[in-house]
Amino acid sequence: MIYGRDSSVASKGLALLRDLIHEQTGILFDDESLDSLFDKVESLAADRGFDSILDYYYLLRYDVSAAEEWRRVFDVLSVRETYFWRESGQIRTLVDNLLPQALSRGNEGRVRIWSAACATGEEPLTIAMALNEAGLLESGRIEIYATDGSPQSITGARAGLYRERAFRAMPPGMRDKYFTQEPGGWRALPSLRRHVQWGVANLMSCTDVAPFAGSRFIFCRNVFIYFSTRSVRKVVDLLSERMPRPGYLFLGAAESLVKVTSTFQLQEIGGAFVYVKD
Ligand SMILES: C[S@@+](CC[C@H](N)C(=O)[O-])C[C@H]1O[C@@H](n2cnc3c(N)ncnc32)[C@H](O)[C@@H]1O
Repeated sequence: MIYGRDSSVASKGLALLRDLIHEQTGILFDDESLDSLFDKVESLAADRGFDSILDYYYLLRYDVSAAEEWRRVFDVLSVRETYFWRESGQIRTLVDNLLPQALSRGNEGRVRIWSAACATGEEPLTIAMALNEAGLLESGRIEIYATDGSPQSITGARAGLYRERAFRAMPPGMRDKYFTQEPGGWRALPSLRRHVQWGVANLMSCTDVAPFAGSRFIFCRNVFIYFSTRSVRKVVDLLSERMPRPGYLFLGAAESLVKVTSTFQLQEIGGAFVYVKD
């Protein structure tokens, strides 16, 4: 049992933990959300045998087992709300406009697409289905990478089993074509899943981001809404250093890079908004 959130030790521990989580994950809990942070981490601290959040903070900051513990923190902080064909206008623009252009460039070898906070995988699988429908997937020149900071999300994505709600925006007929029904839901066919390479990567870690940041197309949607401006700037600086020109960064409809960077310009392409490094 953790000391009540109102004791001075708990308040100090929680404030320190909030700042550490912000630094490590980019996710900002403001003063109004501190209760929600406490609810999320309380059981993690108790599981490790601590009765104070301050002790749990020390573990995450200094202990040799901190790296393993951060995996659990990511899992409890992760908001995995997502679904197939979410904000699909950008995926149409990728498939109809930008990819054919990239593939037609004489000097372009393989084209890499990175879904950078893919949760349980609906976004990269949507990209794979849309590419397949357009006859682009079998060219052998397109690589799709999908990562998330939460190991549990990636385990789910690798399993590829989805419930009804994930299909709420999917065009008719697609589920029957790319999934098979099982007692627990609908499983993506191996012939679809094999086109996506999965991994765990923290967007705030230069080491984690480096292998993917050179992708020509990066989907980083609906994750910056949880970040502070400082965290967004750190990630965008990493991407802007490494992305090729032209490079295309897709954000969620509620996210903006105004006042964050001048490297990317917001453009409307094929009816969808894309940040372009030109
Ligand atoms: C709401 S989901 C977005 C899924 C998908 N991109 C979409 O737009 O539907 C947000 C995801 O961001 C991930 N996330 C949060 N902070 C992260 C970080 N620092 N590095 C990588 N992923 C992170 C969470 O684990 C969660 O799966």
